[in-house]
Amino acid sequence: MKYDFTTLIPREGKDALAVEGPAVGFGPKAPEPPYDFIPMWVADMNFPTAPSIVREITERAQHPLFGYFLASQDYYEAIFRWQARHGVKGLTKGNIGYQNGVLGGVASLIRLCTQSGEKILMHSPAYIGFTEVLKSLGREAELSPLKKDAQGVWRMDLEDMERRLKENRIHFAIFCSPHNPTGRVWTREEIAAAMALFEKYDCTVASDEIWSDLVLPGHVHVPTQSVSEDAKMRTVAFYSPSKGFNLSGLWSSYHIVYNKTLRDRLRLVGENTHYNNLNVLSMHATVGAYSSEGAAWLEELRQVLQENIDYVCGFAKENLPGTAISRPESTYLIFMDCRAYCERTGRSMDELIAACWRVGVGLQDGRPFFEPYGLRINLALPKARVEEAMRRLKEEVFV
Ligand SMILES: Cc1ncc(COP(=O)(O)O)c(C=O)c1O
Repeated sequence: MKYDFTTLIPREGKDALAVEGPAVGFGPKAPEPPYDFIPMWVADMNFPTAPSIVREITERAQHPLFGYFLASQDYYEAIFRWQARHGVKGLTKGNIGYQNGVLGGVASLIRLCTQSGEKILMHSPAYIGFTEVLKSLGREAELSPLKKDAQGVWRMDLEDMERRLKENRIHFAIFCSPHNPTGRVWTREEIAAAMALFEKYDCTVASDEIWSDLVLPGHVHVPTQSVSEDAKMRTVAFYSPSKGFNLSGLWSSYHIVYNKTLRDRLRLVGENTHYNNLNVLSMHATVGAYSSEGAAWLEELRQVLQENIDYVCGFAKENLPGTAISRPESTYLIFMDCRAYCERTGRSMDELIAACWRVGVGLQDGRPFFEPYGLRINLALPKARVEEAMRRLKEEVFV
């Protein structure tokens, strides 16, 4: 490997929510001595980002003026090139708008297109951020459960989606592709089938594609807007280099929109109110990410993540009886189902999670994602740390 995915870089004292959170009441409880904390909860990575990003930011930071600035042609061209990797052609600057975070962008679109009390369709299990945002905005989530098929692959239930759209007169959907937390990479056919329903029931779609850079080897990201002309016009797609390149602290998201009305209205609530502005260092970070070196780094990262996922799936099968994992096709998150373990041992999820946290395995409770027996585990760490976490789970928790 050309890039370093094995050194553990200490994050203590560097403002990292993932490691400082527990001490101030965010996330998992701090471990008991002698265990150290292994951050496997919040969705960021314990890997240094691509050198091209650090170089871009550093070069810009050495020019010590940070006044008002214009989004550069390089920035837009980097996005055009990156989107072309997904087969997106003909993008113009006018199709792209800055968003202060993908979740913030989804929230803006919801406020634009729905009324207080309105129901919004999304799938469960669901990313906790969507649930929290809907609650804050006074909208209601209408959950269509994903179902595992005979091979353990999560699938959309189109009949259930249609029934809910119809019965509740729903006109807005959040579509997460690739899907957090299941890690499904929807195929073109699956996306087209969902979008046909959204067309039939006239839904505006917020397509959250934040995980599209972390599609694992053997899978391909299909942009929601690419499945039909109708999908292109009824969807706003949200992207960011933040997940793939570990840039969440830089807030460097953007949306792609083709529908002129939606575009103008998004501009009104975003740019024209001045609360939602691109940051000059984030802009340079995006250029560094969406470069040939960024692409090469990402390629290696995806192999590293696949290795960690393969390792944990194999380990859990052998050593953590009563757990089941649907192998993710993207992200670095696994969702471990512990129903059989809890039923066999009579242990509650609260007890199980507390036992994991006590030995420093800082994973996340799956219940707020609507999975009653789920543990969400972030595997974006050097493999030695993942192995240590699994050893603790085997020897200290699943006994
Ligand atoms: C599906 C999904 N959307 C949005 C976000 C948050 O994105 P941002 O930090 O850009 O608001 C996350 C973070 O984990 C996510 O998983």
